[in-house]
Amino acid sequence: MVIAIDGPAASGKGTLARRLASHLGRPHLDTGLLYRAVARDLLDRNEPLSDPEAAARAAAALDTAALDDPRLRSREMGEAASIVSAVASVRETLLAFQRRFAAQPGGAVLDGRDIGTVVCPEADLKLYVTASPEERARRRQRELAQSGQPSDYETVLTDIQRRDARDQGRPNAPLRQADDAVLLDTTELDAEAAFRQALVIVEARLRV
Ligand code: DC
Repeated sequence: MVIAIDGPAASGKGTLARRLASHLGRPHLDTGLLYRAVARDLLDRNEPLSDPEAAARAAAALDTAALDDPRLRSREMGEAASIVSAVASVRETLLAFQRRFAAQPGGAVLDGRDIGTVVCPEADLKLYVTASPEERARRRQRELAQSGQPSDYETVLTDIQRRDARDQGRPNAPLRQADDAVLLDTTELDAEAAFRQALVIVEARLRV
């Protein structure tokens, strides 16, 4: 079973995808890490994030086995990833890897922005996970504090709104809910409640 989970920054999709994958015993790919790693490699080489040639080279040379670098989790890398992800050649290069991952026997869980619309349009189940920008900003601020990066709420909220606008407004594979995706609004749900609701949806799908 292939499960595609999309949604905006800090919607809870990553936590949910990880928990579902572990519950179902399936591999999980956080596709945002791919874009974050391309951004890191460009920044490390002092190359511009939106230069199509440099970005395409970085995507082609990406070591997809090394996505556990803690630097990838920073706020700055999220912003840089959002810029790099608008480059068409980067998306094209990363597409093949994501599709291979999804095609593993037994399926997989992938989360990102365009999994249900572009990467896995034939996924068995698509979830679109969202929450209000204010709630997402509170969550992101909490996460940053827990990882030793204190931040100001208004700054985090502005970041989230800018990221939403960029991810939804780009011409290539913009963030949007696939027509056949189930909407899961987690504004009023904690991670446990979101997981329970998603599991009900998954189990209903496994029965048909
Ligand atoms: O999910 P994330 O915050 O780690 O994603 C970082 C950026 O990467 C996001 O702002 C847009 C981009 N991204 C994308 O364009 N497509 C994906 N499937 C995943 C992430």
